[in-house]
Amino acid sequence: MLALSGIEKRFGALTALTEIDLEVASGDVLGIIGPNGSGKTTLLNIVTGTYAPSGGCISFQGTDITGWKGHRITRLGVARTFQNIRLFPTMTVFQNVWAAQHSRVSGGLLGLLRSTPTRTRGEAGRVEKVLEQVGLLRDREVLARNLSLPARRRLEVARTLAVDAKLVLLDEPAGGMTPAETADMARLIREVVAPGRTCVVIEHKMALIAGVCTRLCVLDFGRKIAEGLPDQVLADAKVREIYLGTEDGLDA
Ligand SMILES: Nc1ncnc2c1ncn2[C@@H]1O[C@H](COP(=O)(O)OP(=O)(O)OP(=O)(O)O)[C@@H](O)[C@H]1O
Ligand SMILES: [Mg+2]
Repeated sequence: MLALSGIEKRFGALTALTEIDLEVASGDVLGIIGPNGSGKTTLLNIVTGTYAPSGGCISFQGTDITGWKGHRITRLGVARTFQNIRLFPTMTVFQNVWAAQHSRVSGGLLGLLRSTPTRTRGEAGRVEKVLEQVGLLRDREVLARNLSLPARRRLEVARTLAVDAKLVLLDEPAGGMTPAETADMARLIREVVAPGRTCVVIEHKMALIAGVCTRLCVLDFGRKIAEGLPDQVLADAKVREIYLGTEDGLDA
């Protein structure tokens, strides 16, 4: 459903991605791992249209989307979360999800302001359902800035669930979390996000990768150095060498 072919990305003199070929099949949960600065987030930014690639092409469900602007790609059913959480901090949990839903159905925040009470009742029900799925319904009136870090990450996931995404891209969804919180996030991805959707998950934590991903891809210095079933990839000598002795060690 998603295919990257020969993707290159340069930032001035710096080459962030080189010759990336990657296919994600419908229903897959593809994990992307790699050391800091290896190009993981840049790859997501290219898929979402945040950056245009310097070379290569991307197709989504058979459509060539190379060079498309982000909002057009979003409209095709691509949603994401951010490594550095991006919420509306002074809006409530409910409003954050509602705004995400409106960004898809009726033209962003302007649409939100113009919406009528009758039209929005069904939409409010949908927001509540999504909040229930991520375990935030009780916190619906809490301002996003007052949530704990795990709750903020769950709220970002909720925003992707609110937009009927076919492809969900998660950038370190368990970043900064304890092992117990990471296990909760892994369960949320496995039981709520992944069913009926295709996912790409950037993550360092093996507890999350192992429990969630159907395939795994490893980046190093902007190149894909391994790809396949998670067990096979994690047993690969080259992959182990890259991770050995780093703070993101494979057994962490
Ligand atoms: N907008 C940008 N302008 C210039 N350089 C950038 C930009 N975005 C990323 N880079 C560079 O591209 C390289 C890859 O960065 P990227 O953020 O994709 O890595 P990452 O694998 O996500 O790392 P981390 O694990 O730290 O999140 C880095 O050298 C980074 O400094
Ligand atoms: Mg990153």
